[in-house]
Amino acid sequence: MSAQKAPEKMSEAEARAELEQLASDLAAADTAYYLNDAPTLTDAEYDALRARNLLLEDAFPGLKREDSPSDRVGAEPTSGFGKITHAAPMLSLDNAFNDEDVEEFLGRVRRFLGLSEDDEVQVTAEPKIDGLSLSLTYRKGILAFAATRGNGRVGEDVTANAKVLDDVPKQLSGGDWPDEIEIRGEVYMSHADFEALNAREAEAGRKTFANPRNAAAGSLRQLDVNITKTRPLKFFAYAWGASSVDFADTQADAIAQFIDWGFQTNPRFTVHSSAAGLITAYRDIETRRADLGYDIDGVVYKVNRLDLQSRLGLVSRAPRWAIAHKFPAEKAVTTLEAIDVQVGRTGTLTPVARLTPVTVGGVVVSNATLHNEDEIKRLDVRVGDQVRIQRAGDVIPQILSVENPDRPDRPPQFQLPDACPECSSPAVREIREDGTVDVRRRCTGGLECPAQRAARFQHFVSRKGLDIDGLGAKQIELFLEKNVLEHFQDVFQLPSRIERAGLPPLTEWDGFGQTSAQNLINSIDAVRRPSFARFLNALGIRHVGEVTSAAFARHFGDWDKFWDTVVEAADEIDGTSTAYEELVAIDGIGSAAANALVTFARHPASRAMLDALLDEVDVQPAEQVAGESPVSGQTVVFTGTLEQMTRDEAKARAASLGAKVSGSVSGKTDILVAGPGAGSKLKKAQDLGVRVLTETEWLALIDS
Ligand code: IVH
Repeated sequence: MSAQKAPEKMSEAEARAELEQLASDLAAADTAYYLNDAPTLTDAEYDALRARNLLLEDAFPGLKREDSPSDRVGAEPTSGFGKITHAAPMLSLDNAFNDEDVEEFLGRVRRFLGLSEDDEVQVTAEPKIDGLSLSLTYRKGILAFAATRGNGRVGEDVTANAKVLDDVPKQLSGGDWPDEIEIRGEVYMSHADFEALNAREAEAGRKTFANPRNAAAGSLRQLDVNITKTRPLKFFAYAWGASSVDFADTQADAIAQFIDWGFQTNPRFTVHSSAAGLITAYRDIETRRADLGYDIDGVVYKVNRLDLQSRLGLVSRAPRWAIAHKFPAEKAVTTLEAIDVQVGRTGTLTPVARLTPVTVGGVVVSNATLHNEDEIKRLDVRVGDQVRIQRAGDVIPQILSVENPDRPDRPPQFQLPDACPECSSPAVREIREDGTVDVRRRCTGGLECPAQRAARFQHFVSRKGLDIDGLGAKQIELFLEKNVLEHFQDVFQLPSRIERAGLPPLTEWDGFGQTSAQNLINSIDAVRRPSFARFLNALGIRHVGEVTSAAFARHFGDWDKFWDTVVEAADEIDGTSTAYEELVAIDGIGSAAANALVTFARHPASRAMLDALLDEVDVQPAEQVAGESPVSGQTVVFTGTLEQMTRDEAKARAASLGAKVSGSVSGKTDILVAGPGAGSKLKKAQDLGVRVLTETEWLALIDS
């Protein structure tokens, strides 16, 4: 290499020429390394070229090339893909772990739809492929773009990569496809292809992949499509997202269409009309699992009729009309060395088993959760025991049983402390509304507990919370340690809190100069107008996470309206007020979230904190999704027997259309939907001149 000129002594033309040379040298080195399995540079030479490239790009930002090598990070790209917002969110699936769960699933479906045991509900069964999901959007039959699942709402643009897969049609065959349709399915790698790829990687001295799923994900998410091209990826289509027209009546019809359009679909797809049928299909697929030639981790069941699917809708991020019946987990035996107690963000005390490390299903396990004290009692597990453990997918490993319960000199059973190990506040088991005792022991310290405080503050300022740049775990720990932060509102009064704590101004602290101190204050100021959903999620209330917060935001639009409803529900002693009913009737909201909000609002310290916080921030109204519906904003009461849907379904649909559902008729009622057998509510509505509709009239109104 010739002597390198310092960038500040270079002209633009010189820099441009050198950047071009670097791009081409590095591309050649990448091809040699990744594609030809024959590196032409040592690691040190390669790193030096990349460093030089970065130095020049820093000095001449305007000259950074579109094909800049610095946007490619080795074999595992970490950034650089464009983002694609899914027209319809990509959902996940609830799990069933045993036959009873499958029966319950069918029971739930029947109850929601108001069907009896004798009414036939067809449900499909198909393998759950262990790969990564991919969404393919076709416009006029031509593949327009492809995206990974990402967070379900926004994925990565992998159009170029998807186009090199043989199983992904670039143009749909047949002719009866919708003008625009998004096909979804799983990208996976066969066992044989995985073995061959790993052999090739090992021979070339590169890192091998842990399993076919990682290999598939790493291969699809390549910034250099030439690498993806060399990877044997396959694709099964099994679902769809947005479509410009309805193209099928059932799941089975849709799959038949996919085949006509040129997709591969899983051949082990069957239709059943009972739990027994589904379970037989599950066993059948399970026995063939080893011979399939690719990894699967369960069987997916889906309600076959699409009209029923749309009536069933979703809860949180998963559809009510589908479930994944998982295969049992992998197991091993090891020694329980100790039991530690961890205090979580919400104050739950969790006993954690420290284990002699052991490999289970290809992963080294050294910790397992013991869940709670009832679980320790149930297992009668003691330190020093040989324990059987299992792990299932990404789930935290669990202890199943003790192998040698009769060994001599076992120590006494482990007891969870009744004081929090972090803050010494009482740790208690709550008595729930139904009179049962909560299995979890929780620290009652709240923001007073360091374990909760740090995590709550971290969540409050995190990306999914208020998203304050420059205020991370490290800074939070520091401010907590110096007693600068106590309540959430303190974040917004940092300089005065620092002064009050008798500390020098932030600019004089280690690690904070004039600039970074000012930047921090600026980024705190920048989040003073949070969105409704972000603000609610940031509060870290139990059961009120990202999805639930978004559902509240969509339903209420305005923060004050929401909070007034919560307070109204909280101030009602028996918990069955109209306000409470409105909360639980919202699509995607369960009683756990509503109860947690009510509990939060009943706590005077929480209300005081929220008031003080609202002096600092101005929560922005959200767009109400149901703004256009003919019943949005109207108060609706259902009475009598409904014949075309259950009461729960009727309420959920009304709420999802922006209506307020109430249990009693008053001057505020806009519509009473009265079925056969309606009594006093109907009379009262007639007396008050409230609009009364039959169920059929109501359905016509909301469909209009
Ligand atoms: S249906 C709304 N069918 O499993 C349901 N998913 O745990 C949409 N998966 O993200 C998915 N095989 O990546 C469906 N036959 C199959 C599947 C399958 C694998 C994956 C998919 C999804 C995940 C949910």
